[in-house]
Amino acid sequence: MNPNEKYAAIHYHSYLGLDKILEAQVPRSGQFGKEAHDETLFIIIHQVYELWFKQILHELQSLIGLFEAEAVDEKNIGSAVSRIDRINEIFKLLIHQIDVLETMTPLDFLEFRNFLFPASGFQSAQFRKTEVMLGLKMPQRFSYQEKPYYNQLSSAQQEEIKQLESQRSIFELIEDWLERTPFIKCDGFSFVEEYKIAIAKMIEREKQAITTNEYLSDEEREARLTMVSGNGEFFQQVLDPTAHAQKIEEGHVRISYDAMIAAVMIHVYRDQPILQLPCRLFGFNYDNG
Ligand code: HEM
Repeated sequence: MNPNEKYAAIHYHSYLGLDKILEAQVPRSGQFGKEAHDETLFIIIHQVYELWFKQILHELQSLIGLFEAEAVDEKNIGSAVSRIDRINEIFKLLIHQIDVLETMTPLDFLEFRNFLFPASGFQSAQFRKTEVMLGLKMPQRFSYQEKPYYNQLSSAQQEEIKQLESQRSIFELIEDWLERTPFIKCDGFSFVEEYKIAIAKMIEREKQAITTNEYLSDEEREARLTMVSGNGEFFQQVLDPTAHAQKIEEGHVRISYDAMIAAVMIHVYRDQPILQLPCRLFGFNYDNG
């Protein structure tokens, strides 16, 4: 941008398109008789959600652009982290907005509900696009009235959604990126084998501490030793590719074994400068894959 260049002056109102936005709240109750006071809130809160959905889609599209690259440029991880942080903050805000919606009672809502039939949140194309771009695809969905979920959308929106369904989602792209993580296995070093040894040592240390702890009763000692052995088995399960494939089969886990191992390694070595940003890119929670 050339700071010396003179740009045509612009007014706040026209820059934000407020004529269009502030004219877009048309209560149907007003068109069919007595206008219900709370319908304006109902319209505005949905429009605000849709505006935030648009921002989330804007961020997701850029993230997909960053991770679609054959080799993701390390320099882009910083932008990716800040854009994911922004999406998370927006989701927090969307949840908080329900507090405003709840200032409308069910009876207030019923004053205009019947004028809105059959409109429904099922027809929010942006909500569906957000789900698909995040990674919720047809195989993971229920059909509604034995029809595909996008049946509620316009044909143009359906085409867009089908296009997105055929593209790789941010979940799949980050899974690919994790699977390409170097150092998992190289020059005789195997992170999984080293990690198994570290866990076995940790479990042994804990058992030793419990066994020699004179303040524990026999029952307490027994219970704690059982718990620690359980932790050991849990880690072995996590690191066992066959057990992982089984969990995917059963639908308990979605992320691939290699991507999960990479995430564990990034988490374990999160203090290494090169891994600090990648670690912030994703929350580490094994159970929901
Ligand atoms: C008084 C407030 C609200 C009521 C009573 C309400 C009611 C419902 C109902 C009954 C459904 C199930 C679909 C259906 O039967 O049509 C639904 C779905 C949905 N609503 Fe709302 N809703 C409200 C507010 C909102 C707001 C503010 C949004 C923001 C955009 C929203 C977005 C959605 C979406 C996206 C779905 C589809 C959810 C899914 O399939 O996963 N709703 N809503």
